Amino acid sequence: MSLKDTTILITGITDPNSLALACAKQVKLEGAKLVCTALGLTKHHANLSDKAKAYLEKTYSDFEKTIETELGKDTVTIPLDVTLDGSIDEASDTLKEKGIKLNGFLHSIAMDKTIRAGVVKPLLEVTREEFAGAQDVSAYSLIALTRSLLQKEVLQKNSSIVSLSYLGASKIVQHPYKNIGIAKAALERITIELAWELGKSHNIKVNAIRFSPFTGSKAGGAIEGLQEAFDYNEKNSPMGNAKPEDLGYEVAYLLRPYGRITAEIRHVDGGFNIRA
Ligand SMILES: NC(=O)c1ccc[n+]([C@@H]2O[C@H](COP(=O)([O-])OP(=O)(O)OC[C@H]3O[C@@H](n4cnc5c(N)ncnc54)[C@H](O)[C@@H]3O)[C@@H](O)[C@H]2O)c1
Repeated sequence: MSLKDTTILITGITDPNSLALACAKQVKLEGAKLVCTALGLTKHHANLSDKAKAYLEKTYSDFEKTIETELGKDTVTIPLDVTLDGSIDEASDTLKEKGIKLNGFLHSIAMDKTIRAGVVKPLLEVTREEFAGAQDVSAYSLIALTRSLLQKEVLQKNSSIVSLSYLGASKIVQHPYKNIGIAKAALERITIELAWELGKSHNIKVNAIRFSPFTGSKAGGAIEGLQEAFDYNEKNSPMGNAKPEDLGYEVAYLLRPYGRITAEIRHVDGGFNIRA
Protein backbone atom coordinates (compact mmCIF):
# COMPACT_ATOMS: atom_id res chain seq x y z
CA MET A 1 0.00 0.00 0.00
CA SER A 2 2.64 2.53 -1.08
CA LEU A 3 -0.02 5.24 -1.66
CA LYS A 4 -1.83 4.84 1.67
CA ASP A 5 -3.07 8.19 3.07
CA THR A 6 -2.57 9.98 -0.26
CA THR A 7 -5.07 11.66 -2.57
CA ILE A 8 -4.28 11.60 -6.27
CA LEU A 9 -5.93 13.48 -9.12
CA ILE A 10 -6.33 11.51 -12.35
CA THR A 11 -7.05 13.44 -15.55
CA GLY A 12 -7.91 12.05 -18.98
CA ILE A 13 -10.41 9.26 -18.42
CA THR A 14 -12.86 9.20 -21.31
CA ASP A 15 -14.08 5.62 -21.34
CA PRO A 16 -13.06 2.17 -20.03
CA ASN A 17 -10.24 2.05 -22.61
CA SER A 18 -8.48 5.22 -21.48
CA LEU A 19 -4.93 4.60 -20.27
CA ALA A 20 -5.69 6.89 -17.32
CA LEU A 21 -8.30 4.40 -16.08
CA ALA A 22 -5.75 1.57 -15.86
CA CYS A 23 -3.51 3.96 -13.91
CA ALA A 24 -6.38 5.05 -11.64
CA LYS A 25 -7.19 1.44 -10.79
CA GLN A 26 -3.61 0.66 -9.76
CA VAL A 27 -3.28 3.92 -7.81
CA LYS A 28 -6.48 3.05 -5.94
CA LEU A 29 -5.30 -0.51 -5.33
CA GLU A 30 -2.15 0.89 -3.73
CA GLY A 31 -4.23 2.83 -1.22
CA ALA A 32 -4.84 6.32 -2.68
CA LYS A 33 -8.11 8.19 -2.64
CA LEU A 34 -8.99 9.33 -6.15
CA VAL A 35 -10.29 12.52 -7.69
CA CYS A 36 -10.98 12.35 -11.43
CA THR A 37 -11.41 15.19 -13.90
CA ALA A 38 -12.61 15.00 -17.49
CA LEU A 39 -13.50 17.19 -20.41
CA GLY A 40 -17.02 18.50 -19.92
CA LEU A 41 -19.25 21.53 -20.29
CA THR A 42 -18.47 24.36 -17.84
CA LYS A 43 -19.72 27.93 -17.38
CA HIS A 44 -16.45 29.08 -18.96
CA HIS A 45 -17.41 27.72 -22.38
CA ALA A 46 -18.81 30.59 -24.43
CA ASN A 47 -20.48 30.72 -27.85
CA LEU A 48 -20.54 26.98 -28.36
CA SER A 49 -22.48 25.44 -31.24
CA ASP A 50 -25.22 22.96 -30.25
CA LYS A 51 -23.01 20.20 -31.66
CA ALA A 52 -20.02 21.20 -29.53
CA LYS A 53 -22.23 21.52 -26.43
CA ALA A 54 -23.75 18.08 -27.02
CA TYR A 55 -20.26 16.61 -27.51
CA LEU A 56 -19.00 18.00 -24.18
CA GLU A 57 -22.13 16.84 -22.34
CA LYS A 58 -21.89 13.33 -23.79
CA THR A 59 -18.14 13.12 -23.09
CA TYR A 60 -18.73 14.02 -19.45
CA SER A 61 -21.67 11.70 -18.94
CA ASP A 62 -19.71 8.78 -20.49
CA PHE A 63 -16.86 9.62 -18.10
CA GLU A 64 -19.17 9.66 -15.08
CA LYS A 65 -20.65 6.28 -16.04
CA THR A 66 -17.14 4.85 -16.46
CA ILE A 67 -16.06 6.17 -13.06
CA GLU A 68 -19.11 4.81 -11.30
CA THR A 69 -18.73 1.35 -12.85
CA GLU A 70 -14.95 1.04 -12.73
CA LEU A 71 -13.88 3.05 -9.67
CA GLY A 72 -16.96 3.36 -7.49
CA LYS A 73 -19.49 6.04 -6.58
CA ASP A 74 -17.28 7.55 -3.88
CA THR A 75 -14.79 8.90 -6.47
CA VAL A 76 -14.99 12.70 -6.71
CA THR A 77 -15.53 13.85 -10.32
CA ILE A 78 -15.01 17.36 -11.69
CA PRO A 79 -15.29 18.79 -15.24
CA LEU A 80 -12.10 20.31 -16.61
CA ASP A 81 -11.24 21.82 -19.96
CA VAL A 82 -7.51 22.57 -19.89
CA THR A 83 -7.78 25.14 -22.69
CA LEU A 84 -9.71 27.49 -20.37
CA ASP A 85 -7.94 29.10 -17.40
CA GLY A 86 -11.35 29.72 -15.81
CA SER A 87 -12.16 26.01 -15.95
CA ILE A 88 -8.77 25.06 -14.50
CA ASP A 89 -9.16 27.53 -11.61
CA GLU A 90 -12.73 26.42 -11.00
CA ALA A 91 -11.59 22.80 -10.71
CA SER A 92 -8.88 23.86 -8.22
CA ASP A 93 -11.43 25.95 -6.27
CA THR A 94 -13.84 23.00 -6.14
CA LEU A 95 -11.08 20.80 -4.73
CA LYS A 96 -10.25 23.47 -2.15
CA GLU A 97 -13.89 23.91 -1.14
CA LYS A 98 -14.17 20.17 -0.63
CA GLY A 99 -11.09 20.28 1.62
CA ILE A 100 -9.17 17.99 -0.74
CA LYS A 101 -5.39 18.21 -0.54
CA LEU A 102 -3.56 16.50 -3.39
CA ASN A 103 -0.37 14.49 -3.07
CA GLY A 104 0.02 14.21 -6.81
CA PHE A 105 -1.64 14.00 -10.18
CA LEU A 106 -1.53 12.17 -13.49
CA HIS A 107 -1.59 14.30 -16.65
CA SER A 108 -3.10 12.05 -19.35
CA ILE A 109 -4.35 14.63 -21.83
CA ALA A 110 -3.62 15.05 -25.52
CA MET A 111 -5.35 16.46 -28.57
CA ASP A 112 -4.22 17.17 -32.11
CA LYS A 113 -6.66 18.34 -34.76
CA THR A 114 -4.24 17.35 -37.54
CA ILE A 115 -5.11 13.71 -36.76
CA ARG A 116 -8.49 13.05 -38.32
CA ALA A 117 -10.24 9.86 -39.46
CA GLY A 118 -7.05 7.89 -39.04
CA VAL A 119 -4.96 10.24 -41.20
CA VAL A 120 -2.12 12.44 -39.93
CA LYS A 121 -1.37 15.70 -41.79
CA PRO A 122 2.17 16.22 -43.09
CA LEU A 123 3.93 18.92 -41.06
CA LEU A 124 4.05 21.37 -43.96
CA GLU A 125 0.24 21.39 -44.05
CA VAL A 126 -0.18 22.10 -40.34
CA THR A 127 -1.69 25.53 -39.72
CA ARG A 128 -0.54 27.93 -37.00
CA GLU A 129 -3.82 27.32 -35.20
CA GLU A 130 -3.50 23.53 -35.33
CA PHE A 131 0.09 23.72 -34.09
CA ALA A 132 -0.81 26.01 -31.20
CA GLY A 133 -3.89 23.94 -30.33
CA ALA A 134 -1.92 20.71 -29.94
CA GLN A 135 0.71 22.50 -27.84
CA ASP A 136 -1.95 24.13 -25.67
CA VAL A 137 -3.90 20.98 -24.80
CA SER A 138 -1.10 18.42 -24.83
CA ALA A 139 1.83 20.37 -23.33
CA TYR A 140 1.04 23.80 -21.86
CA SER A 141 -1.81 22.27 -19.85
CA LEU A 142 0.78 20.64 -17.59
CA ILE A 143 2.09 24.09 -16.62
CA ALA A 144 -1.38 25.65 -16.32
CA LEU A 145 -2.84 22.89 -14.15
CA THR A 146 0.22 22.66 -11.89
CA ARG A 147 0.25 26.44 -11.36
CA SER A 148 -3.43 26.63 -10.50
CA LEU A 149 -3.30 23.68 -8.07
CA LEU A 150 -0.28 25.23 -6.35
CA GLN A 151 -1.70 28.76 -6.23
CA LYS A 152 -4.90 27.48 -4.64
CA GLU A 153 -2.78 25.47 -2.18
CA VAL A 154 -4.44 22.23 -3.26
CA LEU A 155 -1.24 20.51 -4.43
CA GLN A 156 0.90 19.82 -1.38
CA LYS A 157 4.65 20.01 -0.83
CA ASN A 158 6.39 16.64 -1.49
CA SER A 159 3.81 15.79 -4.18
CA SER A 160 4.52 13.90 -7.39
CA ILE A 161 3.40 14.70 -10.95
CA VAL A 162 3.42 12.21 -13.81
CA SER A 163 2.53 12.78 -17.46
CA LEU A 164 2.19 10.42 -20.42
CA SER A 165 4.38 10.71 -23.48
CA TYR A 166 5.57 8.59 -26.39
CA LEU A 167 8.79 7.64 -28.16
CA GLY A 168 7.60 9.80 -31.08
CA ALA A 169 8.57 12.86 -28.98
CA SER A 170 12.16 12.38 -30.06
CA LYS A 171 12.28 9.70 -32.80
CA ILE A 172 10.70 9.10 -36.16
CA VAL A 173 8.58 6.05 -35.28
CA GLN A 174 6.89 3.41 -37.47
CA HIS A 175 3.84 5.60 -38.15
CA PRO A 176 3.31 9.35 -38.70
CA TYR A 177 3.34 11.21 -35.35
CA LYS A 178 4.23 14.69 -36.70
CA ASN A 179 2.44 17.62 -34.98
CA ILE A 180 1.59 15.70 -31.80
CA GLY A 181 5.22 14.50 -31.64
CA ILE A 182 6.32 18.12 -31.37
CA ALA A 183 3.75 18.71 -28.61
CA LYS A 184 5.08 15.63 -26.77
CA ALA A 185 8.63 16.99 -27.12
CA ALA A 186 7.38 20.18 -25.44
CA LEU A 187 5.64 18.15 -22.72
CA GLU A 188 8.88 16.32 -21.97
CA ARG A 189 10.87 19.54 -21.85
CA ILE A 190 8.23 21.08 -19.57
CA THR A 191 8.59 18.02 -17.34
CA ILE A 192 12.30 18.69 -16.93
CA GLU A 193 11.93 22.43 -16.38
CA LEU A 194 9.13 21.93 -13.83
CA ALA A 195 11.15 19.23 -12.07
CA TRP A 196 13.93 21.78 -11.61
CA GLU A 197 11.65 24.61 -10.42
CA LEU A 198 9.30 22.56 -8.24
CA GLY A 199 11.99 20.32 -6.79
CA LYS A 200 13.70 23.44 -5.47
CA SER A 201 10.58 25.29 -4.35
CA HIS A 202 8.20 22.54 -3.13
CA ASN A 203 10.15 19.25 -3.10
CA ILE A 204 7.75 18.10 -5.83
CA LYS A 205 8.79 15.38 -8.30
CA VAL A 206 7.88 15.66 -11.98
CA ASN A 207 8.33 12.75 -14.39
CA ALA A 208 7.03 11.62 -17.77
CA ILE A 209 6.50 8.09 -19.08
CA ARG A 210 6.75 7.06 -22.72
CA PHE A 211 4.28 4.23 -23.22
CA SER A 212 3.96 1.60 -25.98
CA PRO A 213 1.53 2.16 -28.88
CA PHE A 214 -2.00 1.38 -27.69
CA THR A 215 -4.86 1.28 -30.19
CA GLY A 216 -7.64 0.59 -27.68
CA SER A 217 -8.22 4.21 -26.59
CA LYS A 218 -9.94 7.00 -28.51
CA ALA A 219 -6.70 8.98 -28.91
CA GLY A 220 -4.68 5.88 -29.91
CA GLY A 221 -7.37 4.54 -32.25
CA ALA A 222 -7.25 7.76 -34.28
CA ILE A 223 -3.56 7.57 -35.17
CA GLU A 224 -2.69 6.49 -38.71
CA GLY A 225 -0.72 3.24 -38.82
CA LEU A 226 -0.72 2.67 -35.03
CA GLN A 227 -1.91 -0.95 -35.36
CA GLU A 228 1.00 -1.73 -37.72
CA ALA A 229 3.38 -0.02 -35.28
CA PHE A 230 1.88 -2.04 -32.44
CA ASP A 231 2.49 -5.27 -34.39
CA TYR A 232 6.04 -4.23 -35.30
CA ASN A 233 6.91 -3.27 -31.72
CA GLU A 234 5.37 -6.48 -30.42
CA LYS A 235 7.87 -8.48 -32.48
CA ASN A 236 10.82 -6.15 -32.04
CA SER A 237 10.77 -5.33 -28.31
CA PRO A 238 12.66 -7.49 -25.82
CA MET A 239 9.39 -8.15 -23.96
CA GLY A 240 6.73 -7.20 -26.53
CA ASN A 241 4.50 -4.16 -26.03
CA ALA A 242 3.73 -2.97 -22.50
CA LYS A 243 0.09 -3.25 -21.44
CA PRO A 244 -2.04 -0.59 -19.74
CA GLU A 245 -1.63 -2.37 -16.39
CA ASP A 246 2.18 -2.13 -16.77
CA LEU A 247 1.73 1.62 -17.15
CA GLY A 248 -0.42 1.61 -14.02
CA TYR A 249 2.37 -0.04 -11.99
CA GLU A 250 4.88 2.62 -13.06
CA VAL A 251 2.53 5.56 -12.56
CA ALA A 252 1.69 4.34 -9.04
CA TYR A 253 5.40 3.83 -8.34
CA LEU A 254 6.31 7.36 -9.42
CA LEU A 255 3.42 8.85 -7.43
CA ARG A 256 4.74 7.46 -4.14
CA PRO A 257 5.17 10.23 -1.56
CA TYR A 258 8.82 9.31 -0.93
CA GLY A 259 12.00 8.85 -2.95
CA ARG A 260 13.86 11.30 -5.18
CA ILE A 261 13.13 10.13 -8.72
CA THR A 262 12.48 13.31 -10.67
CA ALA A 263 13.08 14.91 -14.08
CA GLU A 264 12.99 11.48 -15.73
CA ILE A 265 11.57 10.57 -19.11
CA ARG A 266 11.00 6.87 -18.46
CA HIS A 267 9.95 4.13 -20.85
CA VAL A 268 7.22 1.59 -20.22
CA ASP A 269 7.41 -0.05 -23.63
CA GLY A 270 8.73 -3.61 -23.23
CA GLY A 271 12.19 -2.22 -24.03
CA PHE A 272 11.38 -1.14 -27.60
CA ASN A 273 13.28 2.14 -27.15
CA ILE A 274 16.66 0.35 -27.40
CA ARG A 275 16.01 -0.53 -31.04
CA ALA A 276 17.76 1.36 -33.83
N1 LIG B 1 -2.68 5.44 -27.04
C1 LIG B 1 -1.37 5.44 -27.22
O1 LIG B 1 -0.84 4.76 -28.11
C2 LIG B 1 -0.51 6.26 -26.30
C3 LIG B 1 0.86 5.93 -26.18
C4 LIG B 1 1.66 6.70 -25.36
C5 LIG B 1 1.13 7.80 -24.70
N2 LIG B 1 -0.21 8.09 -24.85
C6 LIG B 1 -0.73 9.27 -24.13
O2 LIG B 1 -1.58 8.83 -23.09
C7 LIG B 1 -2.48 9.89 -22.79
C8 LIG B 1 -3.90 9.32 -22.74
O3 LIG B 1 -4.28 8.87 -24.03
P1 LIG B 1 -5.20 7.59 -24.27
O4 LIG B 1 -4.51 6.78 -25.31
O5 LIG B 1 -5.60 6.98 -23.00
O6 LIG B 1 -6.47 8.23 -25.01
P2 LIG B 1 -7.82 8.89 -24.44
O7 LIG B 1 -8.52 9.42 -25.64
O8 LIG B 1 -8.56 7.92 -23.60
O9 LIG B 1 -7.28 10.08 -23.51
C9 LIG B 1 -7.01 11.40 -23.97
C10 LIG B 1 -7.70 12.33 -23.00
O10 LIG B 1 -7.42 13.70 -23.27
C11 LIG B 1 -8.60 14.42 -22.90
N3 LIG B 1 -8.63 15.79 -23.40
C12 LIG B 1 -8.51 16.21 -24.70
N4 LIG B 1 -8.68 17.55 -24.75
C13 LIG B 1 -8.90 17.98 -23.47
C14 LIG B 1 -9.13 19.24 -22.87
N5 LIG B 1 -9.20 20.37 -23.61
N6 LIG B 1 -9.31 19.32 -21.53
C15 LIG B 1 -9.25 18.20 -20.77
N7 LIG B 1 -9.03 16.97 -21.26
C16 LIG B 1 -8.85 16.86 -22.60
C17 LIG B 1 -9.70 13.57 -23.52
O11 LIG B 1 -10.97 13.95 -23.04
C18 LIG B 1 -9.24 12.19 -23.10
O12 LIG B 1 -9.77 11.86 -21.82
C19 LIG B 1 -2.29 10.97 -23.84
O13 LIG B 1 -1.41 11.96 -23.33
C20 LIG B 1 -1.61 10.19 -24.96
O14 LIG B 1 -0.86 11.00 -25.82
C21 LIG B 1 -1.03 7.33 -25.62
